[in-house]
Amino acid sequence: MSIIFDKNHHTFTLHTKNSSYQMQIDPFGFLIHLYYGRRTEGCMDYLLTYADRGFSGNPYDAGLDRTYSMDVLPQEFPHTGVGDYRNVACTVVNADQSRCCDVRYTGHVIRKGKYSLDRLPAVYADESEAETLEIMLKDAVSEVEITLLYGVLPEADIITRSVLVKNEGKDKIYLEKVLSACLDFVGGNFDLITFQGRHCMDRMYQRHPLAHGTMKIGSRRGTSSHQYNPMLILADHETTEDFGSCYSMTFMYSGSFQAEVEKDQFNQTRALIGLQQEGFRYPLEPGETFTAPEVILSFSAQGLNRLSQNLHVCIRNHVCRRKYKNAVRPILVNSWEGAYFDFNGETIYQLAVHAKELGIDMVVMDDGWFGDRDDDFSGLGDWFVNEKKLGESLGHLIERINALGVKFGIWIEPEGINEDSRLYKEHPDWALSIPGRKPIRARSQLVLDFSRKEVVDAIFDMICKVLDQGNIEYVKWDMNRSLDSVFSRATKEQGAVAYNYVLGLYDFLERLTERYPNILIEGCSGGGGRFDAGMLYYTPQIWCSDNTDALDRIKIQYGTSFGYPISAVGSHVSAVPNHQTGRSTTLQVRSVVAMAGTFGYELDLGALPEEAKDIIRNQIAQYRKYAKLINYGVYYRLTNPFEEEAAAWEFVSEDGSEALLNVVMQDIHGNMTVDYVRLRGLIPGRMYREEESGRLYPADALMETGIPIPVEYKAYRAYQIHFIAE
Ligand code: GLA
Repeated sequence: MSIIFDKNHHTFTLHTKNSSYQMQIDPFGFLIHLYYGRRTEGCMDYLLTYADRGFSGNPYDAGLDRTYSMDVLPQEFPHTGVGDYRNVACTVVNADQSRCCDVRYTGHVIRKGKYSLDRLPAVYADESEAETLEIMLKDAVSEVEITLLYGVLPEADIITRSVLVKNEGKDKIYLEKVLSACLDFVGGNFDLITFQGRHCMDRMYQRHPLAHGTMKIGSRRGTSSHQYNPMLILADHETTEDFGSCYSMTFMYSGSFQAEVEKDQFNQTRALIGLQQEGFRYPLEPGETFTAPEVILSFSAQGLNRLSQNLHVCIRNHVCRRKYKNAVRPILVNSWEGAYFDFNGETIYQLAVHAKELGIDMVVMDDGWFGDRDDDFSGLGDWFVNEKKLGESLGHLIERINALGVKFGIWIEPEGINEDSRLYKEHPDWALSIPGRKPIRARSQLVLDFSRKEVVDAIFDMICKVLDQGNIEYVKWDMNRSLDSVFSRATKEQGAVAYNYVLGLYDFLERLTERYPNILIEGCSGGGGRFDAGMLYYTPQIWCSDNTDALDRIKIQYGTSFGYPISAVGSHVSAVPNHQTGRSTTLQVRSVVAMAGTFGYELDLGALPEEAKDIIRNQIAQYRKYAKLINYGVYYRLTNPFEEEAAAWEFVSEDGSEALLNVVMQDIHGNMTVDYVRLRGLIPGRMYREEESGRLYPADALMETGIPIPVEYKAYRAYQIHFIAE
């Protein structure tokens, strides 16, 4: 049993292999949070303290007890209107316009298996792998019922949370704020780790001690965004990669979000994550239920590496689905950086010829094959193959490529629309825009109103007609702007549009993956602008960044690795000088970096000298040899590339019998000092043979003092060293 209800103490305890989570129904029916941390037994209500706190309100039913205040007590789901002045998870506007939701415990259900969510992605598990707890809370006046959902995956050290809000009253109400999870800590001296960035510099790691006040991140862009990833980590000040306690909250949603972490007047910490509140005003008619997207929680007492490993396993085994879930992905070459919009069928065919010659599995025809699309000013929305441009039909092109023994993939951007398109001429009202105002353009395009079913249906039909034209085995689903002018012609309730848009997106993706279960879909939004657990439920990999510069990618992929597995990270070797930075690095550096991902190429293969082709053939053989270890082994960050010159990471097989060390030297100086990189995860007491030299190394010394990185006189060196246990 991983979920235990203790009748004597009125506590719910959720146990995973290495963590425990506890809450208590107090005498007034409030659901109090007691504990989350390393696994323990017993009742932790000794942690609650009571004192008369000035200016902190007391619920009426506490009578004259001035020591009882929701402004001080740790809670599971804090809401507006009960005297808690901290950030809350939920604000309900009642029919009389009052903002109050005083929900108290009414019952609970414990059952086998993991709950799922209506029209939203959620962690899934077999009956034997998970348990579900539902706790019902109700407001006696408005009759709003809140159900808190908890999923416990003991082996994975994962707890999930979600919330259902049901209007059981007689009048329409509005939800102004619904965040899916709250973690209240009675103390905590935490650092907050978040992942900020911008287009082409996605998910930059940042770590700051919390100060009094609220540290807030989020997205108002309609997508989860390049700017802040929808996840956060709270770590003790002394926590490192390998030691100390840390907690993560991952929001499984691909639209606007917010996360608030507050250190309050009594040095208590509250962390919340969920839907973006700005612009959100969701109507609930009597009898209707609102479902908040899921949050994935994990705890590690063994540092950040273990926390990330928990999340990697969870996303690989309990978020990603279908054929490619645990399969090594094809090595592909994408046409974008090699040809941009300037190609025809023969260009793509020749790319496939070179791919075949080098041992690449698949060629992907990126943007530019449909409508009138020779640049990014026109054509989006017109999902008809431009046979004139290709010089042949899509079916014919695919047949020619398949005949070479090469697979074929294609790029789409179903949510986008150019004003200069047939679709826009026919349906200008399908684009999100405010009547009477000019829309905000970005990349010269608008966004289709995916909150409307007829729009989703129409685009779905057009895309299916394309996908039915031949043996398409891969789709890159792109989304190249942030939403603005979020206004739908189909509703009066504009506060629901952004959320319903994401439901429309998920509906499309669900139907697409059902109809084409064998197609591998790679998510993309100008690279990693929608790199989140919600998308990974449909697309088991996501193009990590539009920046393919190997040195920048080290930092981008480092940040990404905190929350997401290597198998999800789309990463390619591209040309030098790099198109985003102008920097030149060797093919060895570019390939070692791209191998910390799904691995592929994005350059004009035909333009490569013979010497480079030989190197690429070797790289491909190398990747195939390590692909399982890389994608499904245990991943360790060994250094912080923001602080150290040696960027190093390692893949270790689950049983510790082999390890692949990867190092890139990011800088060079005169009279170089020597870097020693310390390995992790080896079996203590064992000897490891370095495959290339045959030299033997003791595991403990490799983990204690490390291995010296050779001193060589050139910038940007990369090493890949394979160790096998004797
Ligand atoms: C986005 C993607 C790129 C490429 C272009 C095509 O920027 O991230 O990889 O597909 O769109 O327009």
